[in-house]
Amino acid sequence: MVFDRVEVKGLVKVYGATRALGGVDATFRAGQVTVIEGPNGSGKSTLLNILAQLVRPSRGEVRYGDTGVRRGSELRSAIGILAHAAMTYPDLSARENLALFARLYEIEHAAKVIDGLVERFEIGRWGERPARTYSRGQLQRLALARALMHSPQLLLLDEPSTGLDVRGVERLVVTVEAERERGAIVVLITHDPELAERLADSVLPLDRGKVAPS
Ligand SMILES: Nc1ncnc2c1ncn2[C@@H]1O[C@H](COP(=O)(O)OP(=O)(O)OP(=O)(O)O)[C@@H](O)[C@H]1O
Ligand SMILES: [Mg+2]
Repeated sequence: MVFDRVEVKGLVKVYGATRALGGVDATFRAGQVTVIEGPNGSGKSTLLNILAQLVRPSRGEVRYGDTGVRRGSELRSAIGILAHAAMTYPDLSARENLALFARLYEIEHAAKVIDGLVERFEIGRWGERPARTYSRGQLQRLALARALMHSPQLLLLDEPSTGLDVRGVERLVVTVEAERERGAIVVLITHDPELAERLADSVLPLDRGKVAPS
C-alpha cells in the first residue's frame, strides 16, 4: 500500500495534567525528509508515536493518504519506526531478531533481505550474540535495520544518530537519502543541527506541544 503523504490535524495529546501536544497541524510528504526539532519535552516523540499508531491522540486525526484513516495490519506494515526503546528481543541475536520481524512483516525472500541488512549495517560477529549484550551503537544499528527491513512507506526515526560513531552517522545519512530516493515519507527527530541541516527537506519546529513560528 502506498500513500503519498500523511496529514495530521488538530492533534492533542494529554497525559494526566501534562499537555504533550496542544493542537498540531502538519503534512509529511513522500520523497521528503521532515525533521522535527524542539527542546526536551516539546512533544516530538509523542507526535512520532502517534504517526506510528503506537499512541492514540486525545483529539485530532491522522490521515494516511487520500482515503482517510486506515487501520490494521496493512497500515502497520507500511510503517517503520526507530523509537527511543530499541524494540528488539534481548535474548535473540541480531539475525534472529531480524528473522522474527521478517516473519511478522511476511517478507518474501527473508534470508536475502537479512543478508543485505547485515552487510549494509555492518553487523559483524557481535551480531551472533544476544542483543542484550550489545553496545549502544550496535543496538542502534540493529534497531535501524529492523525499522527499514520491510521498506516502509512511512519511516519514523527518533534520534537515530544516538550512540552512533562517525562511520555510523555517515551510514545513517546514506540510508536516509536512499529511503527518500525510494519515495518514502521520512520523519526524523534529531538534536544534531548538522544532521538536520544535511537531511532536512522541511523542518517542523515544536515548542511546548505546538508548532513554533520558524
Ligand atoms: N507516557 C507518558 N505519561 C506522562 N507524560 C508523558 C508520557 N509521555 C510523554 N509525556 C510527557 O509529554 C511531554 C512530551 O514528551 P515527549 O517525549 O513527546 O518529548 P520530546 O520532545 O520527545 O522530548 P525529548 O527531546 O526529551 O525526547 C513531556 O512533558 C513528557 O514528560
Ligand atoms: Mg523524544
